[in-house]
Amino acid sequence: MGTKMLVPAVLCVLLGFAAATPLEDFRSNLEFHDYSSNVADPAYRLRPNVYPTDVKVNLENIDLEGARFTGSVEMIVIVRENDLEQISMHQNNLFVTRVNVVNNTNGENVQLRSPDPFTYDNYYELLHLHFHLPIVAGSYTITIDYRGVINTNPVDRGFYRGYYYYENTRRYYATTQFQPYHARKAFPCFDEPQFKSRYTISITRPDTLGPSYSNMAISSTEVIGNSVRETFYPTPIISAYLVAFHVSDFVPTVSTSTAPRPFSIISRRGATDQHAYAAEIGVEITNQLDDYLGIEYHDMGQGQIMKNDHIALPDFPSGAMENWGMVNYREAYLLYDPANTNLVNKIFIATIMAHELGHKWFGNLVTCFWWSNLWLNESFASYFEYFAAHWADPKLELADQFIVDYVHSALNADASPSATPMNWEEVADNPTITQHFSTTSYAKGASVLRMMEHFVGPRTFRNALRHYLRDNAYGIGNPSLMYQAFNKAIAEDHTFLSDFPNINFGNVFDSWVQNRGSPVVEVTRNPETGVIVIEQKRYQLSGEPPTQTWEIPLSWTEQKHLDFSSTKPRQLLNVTSTALLSEPGDNFVIFNIQQSGLYRVKYDEDNWRALSSYLNSNNRERIHKLNRAQIVNDVLHFIRSGDIDRTLGFEVIDFLRSETDYYVWNGALTQLDWIRRRLEHMPRAHEAFTSYLRGLMNNVINHLGYNEGPNDSTSTILNRIQILNYACNIGHSGCVSDSLQKWNDYKENNEPVPVNLRRHVYCTGLREGDRSDYDFLFNAYNSSENAADMVIMLRALACTKDLDALGHYLQESMYNDKIRIHDRTNAFSFALQGNLENVQFVSLFLQNNYDTIRTT
Ligand SMILES: *[C@@H]1O[C@H](CO)[C@@H](O)[C@H](O)[C@H]1NC(C)=O
Ligand SMILES: *[C@@H]1O[C@H](CO)[C@@H](O)[C@H](O)[C@H]1NC(C)=O
Ligand SMILES: *[C@@H]1O[C@H](CO)[C@@H](O)[C@H](O)[C@H]1NC(C)=O
Ligand SMILES: *[C@@H]1O[C@H](CO)[C@@H](O)[C@H](O)[C@H]1NC(C)=O
Ligand SMILES: *[C@@H]1O[C@H](CO)[C@@H](O)[C@H](O)[C@H]1NC(C)=O
Ligand SMILES: [Zn+2]
Repeated sequence: MGTKMLVPAVLCVLLGFAAATPLEDFRSNLEFHDYSSNVADPAYRLRPNVYPTDVKVNLENIDLEGARFTGSVEMIVIVRENDLEQISMHQNNLFVTRVNVVNNTNGENVQLRSPDPFTYDNYYELLHLHFHLPIVAGSYTITIDYRGVINTNPVDRGFYRGYYYYENTRRYYATTQFQPYHARKAFPCFDEPQFKSRYTISITRPDTLGPSYSNMAISSTEVIGNSVRETFYPTPIISAYLVAFHVSDFVPTVSTSTAPRPFSIISRRGATDQHAYAAEIGVEITNQLDDYLGIEYHDMGQGQIMKNDHIALPDFPSGAMENWGMVNYREAYLLYDPANTNLVNKIFIATIMAHELGHKWFGNLVTCFWWSNLWLNESFASYFEYFAAHWADPKLELADQFIVDYVHSALNADASPSATPMNWEEVADNPTITQHFSTTSYAKGASVLRMMEHFVGPRTFRNALRHYLRDNAYGIGNPSLMYQAFNKAIAEDHTFLSDFPNINFGNVFDSWVQNRGSPVVEVTRNPETGVIVIEQKRYQLSGEPPTQTWEIPLSWTEQKHLDFSSTKPRQLLNVTSTALLSEPGDNFVIFNIQQSGLYRVKYDEDNWRALSSYLNSNNRERIHKLNRAQIVNDVLHFIRSGDIDRTLGFEVIDFLRSETDYYVWNGALTQLDWIRRRLEHMPRAHEAFTSYLRGLMNNVINHLGYNEGPNDSTSTILNRIQILNYACNIGHSGCVSDSLQKWNDYKENNEPVPVNLRRHVYCTGLREGDRSDYDFLFNAYNSSENAADMVIMLRALACTKDLDALGHYLQESMYNDKIRIHDRTNAFSFALQGNLENVQFVSLFLQNNYDTIRTT
């Protein structure tokens, strides 16, 4: 499945679609899970007439070199109907050697059909057990012995093998990725989220390796010849996709401060000095979620203490996976080396840990019924990704970053006329929608949650989440259970009820879940009367939108009483159009304080003009930075969609000339770059626009400088990264010459480039250099121990204009085993994005090597 993903991605770029801008790819690696199978076909589904309660999985003869193992499962199942002729469960690529079924009511074996006691359905990935005579409702124990393979390509998921180098030897490890439906590749099982049961895992591995890992701690160890069997404590009641195990000689760092609540970071040998940051922030995130949600992580084990392991993997098909007790990560998203990991990647470590830990409550403890409701747990995980990380370390400014990262990207995705709703019934029936689906369920869901938090207030929001978790623990959740929890919390909040007496919270929330797209609120103010007419419609970049209504919590402020401190909505807009009153006279209004709601705002021309002159005056900073970011982002979209006069639009955003704030620039750059790319085929207009951009950026570049200060805030550092990276790309002369100096200091005098400046300095060094510059950086790549830094270098290597070097790069991207399989696709995209001049060369290479790349 995974191998197919590469080709469309590459072709998209070739055809000029996914022309990811240099800024968007800040987050482009955040593909946590992919859901791409026609799982909506009912033939894939198991019937709920049989369900497992207790499952023992015993894996033996684990052979990492030969990539195989043997296994047996013993499961107690409850049969809920009489006259059942067969029991069906999932398997994929398992070879069953024996099946035995015992009637737990009388302890006798149940006779199976002869011949063919069991059959496979390899298309639907099923195993059918056939009975000699139909069986009656009751409890049965099924034992299945089988042989399985360890996948040698991590992209195949299931139980798979990866490698690493230590002391010049290549070593193997094996681990699992089961979500969404790959547990069946490791053991026969009921592989759908709603079948939750207790699992007891035991693993027999060679004694040359270290102790194995699984969801729970080891309960017993037994030496058998040259092997060691480790048996783990029973898990709480969980879905099969959350089972995990890991066999290797990896080493842990156990946090001592948290005893008796275990917390460990685990990685390959040779990387243990990169554990400290993840340990520190991970412990704090766990504590914050414990306090906020009122159920403690370590207490969720139903009789056993939950351990809290986080494992860094050199090869991992997605970003991270929230297996109970044992989260898997790509190395770059867990290991931190202060000398070599930049701030963007450090923030990823905090947010991805927060996302996965958030799943422990939303996803693991309370699981959604089926993939169409995926947004429910992904939304919460993505919400906590920012907010739990924010509580753990406020200096990272993640509460503010949420707006430009998630609210803006949700609005951006929703601007497409083909945007999918959050509640997407036809889950991934059609692989082409998978991408929309994931943006929608992650960014949009989290943005809707944040809007609801500002609507009902932080305390009532928290209480609703606590009700939802407490009422549905170890069970299955769905949207109406969540609305019930909100209604319960609202009923306890008299202040909110007196402001919104007839509120039907389910309707409010549902209007965001069921509708496609997101709204624009159109504001028309009459200066003489002060009357403001408000109208809502769906925002689309093109085409006529269908009529839709959302229930929009409205907040606003007016020029005469500018106040951005309270985001509490004053009114719920649940009709197409309404009118409000402001103080008459020259008195512009700004809606959506701190962009706490998921909507764009379009004003009448007078209001735009008044805002424009205010923004272009010294008063600019009296408008909240998040509202300035909102305004530039909205205006640039309106310029694209024709919802604002172009001249007026560019007048409004001209305040960027003085603007130095990270958030405001972040709201602008991707859209400005989009416009610039549209002009590529008109060289003179392109150069004129590029020169305009360089001019806009002069002041912010002077303000930031080319070097980091000792006391720079997170947003100052992020701003320098985004601004210089873009400025160098568009040939800003100051940026280019400073970068070349730093690059030469590195190359000639071995003076390391400060970690947060590497991306643009390396790229500029290679773009302006020759083969020797490429070789120098390639050697650095080849000897690096930090995965995040290696990605920075991999990207920069693609900036070379030397076609011989570029050929080497593409060749290495296919075969060099230091380049991990999950980075290979990126390498091809980097090559396409590196320089406009290279596109033809790279396209030709990709076409000539299409078959090899497809199967790599
Ligand atoms: C299991 O045992 C019970 C009790 O003896 C009996 O009623 C039932 O028919 C048995 N089921 C099968 C499938 O033999
Ligand atoms: C979230 O919900 C989906 C769909 O209901 C469920 O199957 C899945 O296991 C849950 N967890 C994650 C991380 O998606
Ligand atoms: C809008 O919400 C108010 C309560 O806030 C309610 O009284 C009214 O019926 C709602 N209107 C519609 C069309 O749903
Ligand atoms: C950085 O902060 C420290 C401690 O507050 C202060 O002593 C120092 O002068 C500051 N450095 C600069 C360059 O502002
Ligand atoms: C990469 O490093 C290895 C040693 O780790 C070395 O054997 C190999 O020749 C290097 N490759 C290149 C292209 O420098
Ligand atoms: Zn997730």
